[in-house]
Amino acid sequence: MRTAPALLFLLTAVLAYYVYIPLPNTVSEPWKLRVVDALLRGVMILGNLAHDLGLSHRIYVLNFAVNRFEVQGPRSSKAVLVTDTAFAGVQVRVFESTRRKEGELKRAVIYLHGGGWALGSARMRSYDSLCRRMAEDLKGVVVSIDYRLAPEARFPEQYNDALRASRYFLQPRVLARYSVEPSRVGVSGDSAGGNLAAAVAQQVATDSSSPSKFKVQALIYPVLQALDFNTPSYQQNQNVPILYRPLMAHFWLEYLDGDLSFIQPLLANKHTALDVYWTAQGRAKVNWTQLLPASFRKHYKPVAPAHGLAQVVEEVPALLDPRAAPLLAERDVLARLPRTYILTCEHDVLRDDGLMYGRRLEEAAVSVTHDHYEDGFHGCMVFAFWPAYSSVGQRTVENYIRWLDDNL
Ligand SMILES: *[C@@H]1O[C@H](CO)[C@@H](O)[C@H](O)[C@H]1NC(C)=O
Repeated sequence: MRTAPALLFLLTAVLAYYVYIPLPNTVSEPWKLRVVDALLRGVMILGNLAHDLGLSHRIYVLNFAVNRFEVQGPRSSKAVLVTDTAFAGVQVRVFESTRRKEGELKRAVIYLHGGGWALGSARMRSYDSLCRRMAEDLKGVVVSIDYRLAPEARFPEQYNDALRASRYFLQPRVLARYSVEPSRVGVSGDSAGGNLAAAVAQQVATDSSSPSKFKVQALIYPVLQALDFNTPSYQQNQNVPILYRPLMAHFWLEYLDGDLSFIQPLLANKHTALDVYWTAQGRAKVNWTQLLPASFRKHYKPVAPAHGLAQVVEEVPALLDPRAAPLLAERDVLARLPRTYILTCEHDVLRDDGLMYGRRLEEAAVSVTHDHYEDGFHGCMVFAFWPAYSSVGQRTVENYIRWLDDNL
């Protein structure tokens, strides 16, 4: 069989071509990222195919793949008791450290997983491992919330689920049941979960009826605005996996129930063009020429078209709602927020969302710790656990938990 080696060569070449994508040379362990990206792209191609054939929604295909390989039951260990339960009708997984003495009160973190408000679960191996480790290292309690996902749930349902479960947990009798010190509870999340964490923190901070307030918020490469898809980080990282720029616009429209034909206008900033009615105070909250230091503005120019498409904001008014886009909150809301940790990655379209929020919080006199990873990419913190181990992922987890340990 003379054709066998030739076929093998061809197959290897096709596979290498498919997996290989150019990456900035400062990205941590580029080949691992390429493999994760290739798997994700493969599933997305299948998802789009199934969607176009009318077999299934593309998001179900992605979620099926994620759940099939990643979801695991609540397994307790000697150090951590793990339980699946419901808080006010919202599914949660609770991790309780067993390392405290009888009667001693613990610290607690409410955690919101990422996945574009459409993917992922508290029961996924990576999030389970992260929350388990947090409970263990902090000798505390971690409540990981399984809010409902798009396309079944749309804004504000994900937010409402996150808020309802958080409020339930913050009740004195519930905190007592878990032996949690009421003044030592924090809220945290990554990516779309960072968005929900920031939104829930704003609501709890301004709600005078809430018996307990958060002591800290910790936001991991959070999504915070959908008004400018041409911040320097969006421009710089549009071709860096795994969160490509059009994918982020797609996630936003699925979350806010907008028509997917708006992806292109969003990417061109047509929804916030200069002839689209919108207030000057609103523009200032996302004006990165003012909010970012020169080292992050680099050589990039603002994209502000003269003529736009007012229809987008008219049909998707939630684009301007701070519950969906926490960066749009007023300064007096921000001023009530607790001590904040923000993690950003250089190779991430969302880098500047986090940077702008940090800057606005500091302007409102909130204490902010900013951890920036020059070799980090979007999602790297969940690539810290087997089998997707990465060195930058490992470092982000260590520094994040150390900050919680020092500040919660
Ligand atoms: C953003 O801020 C700069 C500097 O203050 C200002 O010149 C510019 O007009 C602002 N851009 C918008 C779109 O408001």
